[in-house]
Amino acid sequence: MTIHKIQAYRASLLHFTDDPLHNPDGTHRHEDGLLIVNDGLVQAAGDYQQLKSTLPADVVIEHFPGKIITPGFIDTHIHYPQTDIIASPAPGLLPWLEQYTFPAERQFENPLHAREVADFFLDELVRCGTTTAMVYCTVHPESVDAFFEASTARNLRMVAGKVLMDRNCPEFLRDTAEDGIRDSETLIKKWHKHGRQLYAITPRFAPTSSPAQMQLAGELARAYPDTFIQTHVAENQDECAWARSLFPEARSYLDIYDRYGLMRERAMFAHCIWLNDEDRARMAATRSAVALCPTSNLFLGSGLFDFQRAEAQNVPLSLATDVGGGTSFSMLQTMNAAYKVARMGGTYLPATRMFYLATLGGARSMQLEGCIGNFVAGAEADFNVLDPQATPLLKRRTASCDSLEELLFALALLGDDRSIAATYAAGKRVSGMKVPSEASIF
Ligand code: GUN
Ligand code: ZN
Repeated sequence: MTIHKIQAYRASLLHFTDDPLHNPDGTHRHEDGLLIVNDGLVQAAGDYQQLKSTLPADVVIEHFPGKIITPGFIDTHIHYPQTDIIASPAPGLLPWLEQYTFPAERQFENPLHAREVADFFLDELVRCGTTTAMVYCTVHPESVDAFFEASTARNLRMVAGKVLMDRNCPEFLRDTAEDGIRDSETLIKKWHKHGRQLYAITPRFAPTSSPAQMQLAGELARAYPDTFIQTHVAENQDECAWARSLFPEARSYLDIYDRYGLMRERAMFAHCIWLNDEDRARMAATRSAVALCPTSNLFLGSGLFDFQRAEAQNVPLSLATDVGGGTSFSMLQTMNAAYKVARMGGTYLPATRMFYLATLGGARSMQLEGCIGNFVAGAEADFNVLDPQATPLLKRRTASCDSLEELLFALALLGDDRSIAATYAAGKRVSGMKVPSEASIF
């Protein structure tokens, strides 16, 4: 028997080649679709009837009747060391960091703890259909090794980095400007582009990095221009005032990062709630991206992201959970919160746009279009099998949906981890049940 590197999956298919906000032709839906994967990469995606004849006769097709295959979700901002403190109550960001976050992060000096949490975290992500994330580790280099080892074991495309933090935090979580950068460079050499792993230079946020550390982080980002950068900005008004008082020469909180050369392609800024028009113009001009974290912003009472201004100013947008400030690993639950935040700001977020933001929008924000985020030929075959009948209520609601928009809207508002029947990374199942193939049904 021939062993094929080719696999084929039949279901309804949904993916994007452009932002539905600007181009309705960029939304692709094949009611009875076929996804053909060759050696972990997408070979073709389209109508089953058209594509089936291109398959070698003995390729067994996995069939998911009534289900929808989408690209794996992309969560552009999440903290793996905060897994165990999700849903910890506090009156706002700064007390939450002091009371829960910093003590939890201290434990990641122990590599065994770090690996155990990384394994759980990645299993939970893929169970929710997320195949790529931009991930904060802790200040400890061992926490980065543990994370990338766990991600490599699952062959996931992950972006992560060591937190840089040399002031305004407990002594037990503090690096120094020089050591933090030296350790980051060692980790870049070890992990960046090692298999599917990518490195992000990770100053936690301006208040916890000295000017010297910010300066060195900017120099590191220039020395390694294809690495990522991730940080927090303009999340909470107390935090904004604190950042401004620490860097009084800056035009705004965002401008602190700009001055140190930390705004560029592949730079991801979480939250961006309290930006002004000039800040948004800099985001657009430098192709820096927003990681929009609605469950976290609501939970911590940080504020409501301004969709209207961000869209008007062409700011690159992506969607993120921000666990443990965020309250769910599910990008469907995150869409639910994003929708309501948009409504509170007087705008409307169509479901196709929410699915775009959770897939190709994330990939574009990370300059990874063509690699992940959709089903163009040659893309890495990371995908989800969504079940619109996963719960009694979803089944009842989706039975009467008569447009794609309505169906996706029901999934976004009512869906969660239960709606993800299976998840595949580079063509290999990493979560969910194997279904009977067409051939073995008979
Ligand atoms: N700002 C600085 N650190 C953090 C963090 O861990 N979570 C959130 N939500 N905001 C931050
Ligand atoms: Zn965060």
